[in-house]
Amino acid sequence: TDGIRPLVAGNWKMNGLRRSVDTIEALKSHAQEGVLERIDMLVCPPATLVALAVKTMDTVPIHIGGQTCHPAENGAHTGDIAPEMLLDVGASYVLTGHSERRTDHGETDEVVHAQTLGAWRAGLCAIVCVGETKDEREAGNEVSVVAGQIAGSVPDGATAENTVVAYEPVWAIGTGLTPTVDDIAAMHDAIRAELTNRFGDEGAKMRILYGGSVKPGNAADVLAPNNVDGALVGGASLSASDFMGIADAV
Ligand code: G3P
Repeated sequence: TDGIRPLVAGNWKMNGLRRSVDTIEALKSHAQEGVLERIDMLVCPPATLVALAVKTMDTVPIHIGGQTCHPAENGAHTGDIAPEMLLDVGASYVLTGHSERRTDHGETDEVVHAQTLGAWRAGLCAIVCVGETKDEREAGNEVSVVAGQIAGSVPDGATAENTVVAYEPVWAIGTGLTPTVDDIAAMHDAIRAELTNRFGDEGAKMRILYGGSVKPGNAADVLAPNNVDGALVGGASLSASDFMGIADAV
């Protein structure tokens, strides 16, 4: 990871009730054994639990984030959550453009771009998610698809501080399938080239996470390539011991 501080992030998706704070308690006690000296960690619970997660994590610097946000600061947008609201309850990150948001809610690159600007305005770090479908990979278009998503979703002004890019091949999410380590390395190298080309030094330092069926058993392999600077973990982040197993493998 070339001097870039890794980030291991958990995306709980639509899972978790107040009792899930047990998982946070377990992460806290494990984290006290020193993992945070090497890496940053982040948990993105559902919006209903963000405030409680922040409160529970208070003594341990594991970050808490949202899973999406509206671009605007406030207004007539029933059901939506502004980045400023996430900040207000203590979040420091937010995911933008997760493939499930792109698919379930029709979020286009243009929407993700606006959400990312909103996140920056509030002072949150945006984790912009990109990734090709199975058909796109089978057609050999994965690099151009991902490059297009980055061009459309990551606004000018991205820095290593305000932006993380997460590469999540759609076909690897929740399926137990992962690309080969060579395929992950090739994609992350291509993303690095895009980011450096566009953002110079900031692009060279920006974290690029891999996401899609990361488990304790494959974490060391998928995280090994040079331009993989951490993981975005779905299913395995619901178990404190699995999530910590992944963090320990970095
Ligand atoms: O955002 C993380 C994610 O989409 C990957 O999910 O369950 O394959 O780790 P999972």
